[in-house]
Amino acid sequence: MRILVLGTGGREHALLQGLSRDAQKNDALNTEGSNGEGSNTDGQNGASQAVAHELHVCPGNPGMENLATRHTDAGSADDAAAMVALAQKLQAELVVIGPEAPLVAGVADALREAGFAVFGPNKDAARIEGSKAFAKDVMAAAGVATARAEQITPGASEEEIARVLQNFGPNYVVKDDGLAGGKGVVVTQDYDEAVAHIHAVHEGGNPVLLESFLSGPEVSLFCLVDGEDVVPLLPAQDHKRAYDNDEGPNTGGMGAYTPLPWLPEDGVQRIVDEVCRPVAKELVARGCAYSGLLYAGLAWGEDGPAVVEFNCRFGDPETQAVLAMLQSPLAPALAACANGTLAELAPLEWHEGSAVTVVLAAQGYPANPRQGDRIVSEDIENAEKILHGGTSRESGEYYSNGGRVLNVIGTGADLDAAREAAYQTIGGIQMAGGFYRRDIGAKAARGEISI
Ligand code: GLY
Repeated sequence: MRILVLGTGGREHALLQGLSRDAQKNDALNTEGSNGEGSNTDGQNGASQAVAHELHVCPGNPGMENLATRHTDAGSADDAAAMVALAQKLQAELVVIGPEAPLVAGVADALREAGFAVFGPNKDAARIEGSKAFAKDVMAAAGVATARAEQITPGASEEEIARVLQNFGPNYVVKDDGLAGGKGVVVTQDYDEAVAHIHAVHEGGNPVLLESFLSGPEVSLFCLVDGEDVVPLLPAQDHKRAYDNDEGPNTGGMGAYTPLPWLPEDGVQRIVDEVCRPVAKELVARGCAYSGLLYAGLAWGEDGPAVVEFNCRFGDPETQAVLAMLQSPLAPALAACANGTLAELAPLEWHEGSAVTVVLAAQGYPANPRQGDRIVSEDIENAEKILHGGTSRESGEYYSNGGRVLNVIGTGADLDAAREAAYQTIGGIQMAGGFYRRDIGAKAARGEISI
């Protein structure tokens, strides 16, 4: 299949790596709806045939160049007309939209209108991430448990801010009510820090959402959604704080592991039944059926799962770990969503064991990441071990070019083994000022998470 992936970072590198692995995979799990050249169209029980795809990425990063053709002069991934022109030039059979910004901007709508099969929701459904007020309204209608919330609009007086803050605490959850790449949240017990973040978000022109604090361990569950059909992937857990022991500022995510040994056996099914399917049905009822990846970020408290937030795309860095565990070919699953045939997809199969991803961040991340530090690693072009988040390349050498620079992957028979593999690889990487958390998945491996 000729596939165009939009995006730049570690998540998109993981998607490309997942798609390139299809070339080694038995394709017996293909769907009847998949339409790619060389793909198995015999249906769920069809003959086995490995499929090599023709992969393209816009704009991508240099770490992806041995997997896909990069298109760096085709325009921004947020520019609908430019992406339609690129898809037409390539005659793409599937377009996979990685980040939220193009989805919220309506790039999927434009591609669909031009006749392309697209993995990613249309603009109206992407509001589940793009507008927290919309997400709360959908959850209320669908009967989904979530935090209590109140909005503070830019221009609110100090008295109004104080009045709203009084309704929350002692943990203040202060969210940027616009797109913030997963980085717009401050969780603090410090009243002044909460007020400062409210002002900072307002200065950027966005409203603020104050939310009640949801206790309990966090779960990221990604679901393929096609209307009312919902297929969950493996559950994962992100580590949002910059430093060990969940200290330091919130980040886009410093590492993740999958699956979750502490989740009850029926945990994924409960999230699907109590959260994802009701939301998918509600979106259908509102005339904005969802098609693509629905990411439920949850806290598992005393009463079970409650939604912290929804995202309209794969999460970063959980995707890097989750896709490392996928045994079924990836393209047929994405194509089934895009083509409206998810109900016909054979059950996804997963490798035994665990996967961990550890992020190598640049000095100063998240506030002010330094760029241009040389990266030395014998594994730098081995996408089984290292996925690039923010790198550049010059004269064959790689340099940091973003906050989260590399995602190091470890897999193993259990979480300890996966952690050991990831930390062995990251220990061999040299990058001045680079830092990473040493405790990704550690609490779970020690059996210290319970619900
Ligand atoms: N894992 C956090 C995010 O993708 O927003």
